[in-house]
Amino acid sequence: CGVVGYVGSKPATPIIVDGLKKLEYRGYDSSGVAVLDRDGLKVEKKRGRLAELEKALTGRELDATIGIGHTRWATHGRPSDVNAHPHTSNDGKIAVVHNGIIENYLQLREWLSSMGHIFKSETDTEVIPHLVEHFYKGDLIEAVQKTVSHLEGSYAIMTISVDQPGRIVAVRQDMPMVVGLGQGENLLASDIPALLKHTRQCYLLNDGDVVELKADEVIIRDVTGKVVQKEIFEVTWDAEEAEKGGYDHFMLKEIHEQPRAIRDTLKGRISHAGDKVILDEIKMTTKEIQNIKRIVITACGTAYHAGLVGKYIIEQLVRIPVEVDIASEFRYRDPLIDEETLVVVVSQSGETADTLAALREARRRGARVVAITNVIASSVAREADDIIYTWAGPEISVASTKAYTTQLVAIYLLALYLAQERNTLAAGNIKEILNELKAIYSKAQEVLDGEQPIKDFAEKYCKHEDAFFIGRGLDYAVALEGSLKLKEISYIHAEAYAAGELKHGTLALIVENIPVIALATQQSLFEKMVSNIKEVKARDASVIALAMEGHTEVEKVADQVIYIPKTHQVLAPIITVIPLQLLAYYISVYRGCDVDKPRNLAKSVTVE
Ligand code: G6P
Repeated sequence: CGVVGYVGSKPATPIIVDGLKKLEYRGYDSSGVAVLDRDGLKVEKKRGRLAELEKALTGRELDATIGIGHTRWATHGRPSDVNAHPHTSNDGKIAVVHNGIIENYLQLREWLSSMGHIFKSETDTEVIPHLVEHFYKGDLIEAVQKTVSHLEGSYAIMTISVDQPGRIVAVRQDMPMVVGLGQGENLLASDIPALLKHTRQCYLLNDGDVVELKADEVIIRDVTGKVVQKEIFEVTWDAEEAEKGGYDHFMLKEIHEQPRAIRDTLKGRISHAGDKVILDEIKMTTKEIQNIKRIVITACGTAYHAGLVGKYIIEQLVRIPVEVDIASEFRYRDPLIDEETLVVVVSQSGETADTLAALREARRRGARVVAITNVIASSVAREADDIIYTWAGPEISVASTKAYTTQLVAIYLLALYLAQERNTLAAGNIKEILNELKAIYSKAQEVLDGEQPIKDFAEKYCKHEDAFFIGRGLDYAVALEGSLKLKEISYIHAEAYAAGELKHGTLALIVENIPVIALATQQSLFEKMVSNIKEVKARDASVIALAMEGHTEVEKVADQVIYIPKTHQVLAPIITVIPLQLLAYYISVYRGCDVDKPRNLAKSVTVE
């Protein structure tokens, strides 16, 4: 979710809505604003994209100069007008926007209900305005401080109250929030891009800081209640750079967003006990799931590569035959599809013409279609029977990174869900994989933190015109994606090969010093991979190997080894791809290529 607050002398609503637009990447299933004008508190909130809120606001006389706004990504309670923020207190005097999760909201809700508070929404957030109301004895700051002392979880909260006009009281814990300092006006937002139109001077906040924001003054108290002086942080990037969050390119920013994106895609989809997948978005009954005879995954580009991982995973965990097909091929080959086939369509944008055509063809032939997409209400989402959204947030760089890893997460969830419904895996196995899946985002972060050797390798080999990627099993699927990344943005000719197949042809191309990226993360295939590495080493290739921590034997055969943290081998693709993304990125940078906008390519291809 994203939050924005404004207090000053200008009309607050357009400034807030404009700020929310910059935060839409943080979630966009509903949005809302609350402002204080001379008649009191006015709230407008709507399900859907920000455009829906803007529509609802046209014609409303909101001449307020103070207000708060929110763009939501649903966690507790489905997207709806009622569940959208801001939420208000019983007496309708206090409004709150919140980003984060209140873990103990059920207890708080019961307690407040027993005192006569009436709740309108299904959200965790709604307890906050009620608590503030309960604790309010004439001092809003004190009421907010008391409120947060009862909250467990993470939050960036902003509050306004009819009884205390002219100020926003805000607090953060484990969720981002920054103060923007203006002339006779001040702002608050989840992220700097939402402030940049108005100011470059910010206060960065610590956990527990309580902010009192007025038009001409900002007072910050730390967690102990003591007033603290903050240093002004001067934003030196321009608006576009700010959107890049300080990174040189969108691609690098998006690579670094993967831990967050993975976590968001998992959110709410694993039971608290960690033993079940919750995919309410799949409307198929258990019986229908049990009747599936075949699965066809169809997609283009990077999404197709995610599908290839899907084949290995679903066949292994669910024991249903899976075919993966390039969407532009699928539709023209008179595909063998019927009512017993489940078709899974994967598309970041949800607008790729080839993929959409394949989806329509599958439905025409009677198949049920599950879509995995990143864009709410995209064409693919609208036309599929069931939709699993990835929560990567907008992906701007043409070369797809966080969309791919979140597609993988969605595919794992789908596979485990099917396994659960068809009873093809022991409960213990499901739990074991789910536990690893829950931890995978922090391992992705570890990979990102250890990027230096990849950068060094990139510098050393950026002048080469050919490269090879080899792997077995799941590593082969990831190798294909790694080689695509390199081709797309560095224009190096790269081939991905199933390592066992190399000797049947491609080995002829291995010459002295040629870079070979060997993926050896699959424990069960490790020995075989070591032999394949030896084959290319015997032809004097330069080998960089990727292996799981602890598999040090590979150091004896490869020139350099990048280790990825230990995880269940089935899940390895999610983190194995990250060094490959970084490798392609840095090689592209060293070659002086236009990383985010490679020649001849487009982000979303809506022609056949
Ligand atoms: C384009 C992009 C690729 C992307 C493919 C599929 O060709 O350049 O990066 O993988 O489309 O896009 P989709 O939005 O359907 O996932």
